[in-house]
Amino acid sequence: MDNPHLNLMISEEEISSLVKKLAEQISLDYEGKELILICILKGAFMFLADLIRHLRIPVKIDFVRLASYGSGMKSSGLVEITKDIETPIEGKDVLIIEDIVDSGRTLQFLKERLALSKPRSVKVCALLDKKARREVTIEADYLGKEIEDVFVVGYGIDFDEGYRNLPEIFYVTSPEQEKEKG
Ligand code: IMP
Ligand code: MG
Repeated sequence: MDNPHLNLMISEEEISSLVKKLAEQISLDYEGKELILICILKGAFMFLADLIRHLRIPVKIDFVRLASYGSGMKSSGLVEITKDIETPIEGKDVLIIEDIVDSGRTLQFLKERLALSKPRSVKVCALLDKKARREVTIEADYLGKEIEDVFVVGYGIDFDEGYRNLPEIFYVTSPEQEKEKG
């Protein structure tokens, strides 16, 4: 898409309050435990960075890189791992940090794969969820906000690798859609 139009959807202030609420809940639920946060690259890097600053429990972090979207806005449905975690997770409490849940295939794949290493628990924390687009049965245990079926960018989330730096979250419309609106 050339010249995508960005429409403000979630402000910096709202993101910050969503992130703080999630961090408070996670800190309560995992009190007395040592948590390993596994951040899905690249989209969740900013969310992870903000979230951990508000956690009041000991945490370790690690990263996986999963590819499900080649480029653009269509999912292939196939997930592959291009960078694995390096931290042993056997017997540990693990929390996956994801930017946005769409079909659910990425999370389903990662949860199944991590389970092979026999962690004590694996839960999911996602900032956004497009529940209407789910193709497999999976839910985030901690969710920032449910959104409509729109394509979003900003706060780590990309469109063809662009817009990750924006501090707010926008939904993308095409120049044609903008013309129709008048
Ligand atoms: P799923 O496997 O279909 O649930 O896709 C999840 C992944 O697709 C997320 O980690 C994002 O990287 C990407 N994704 C889903 N929706 C959007 C969007 O609106 N903008 C950008 N990336 C998205
Ligand atoms: Mg992602």
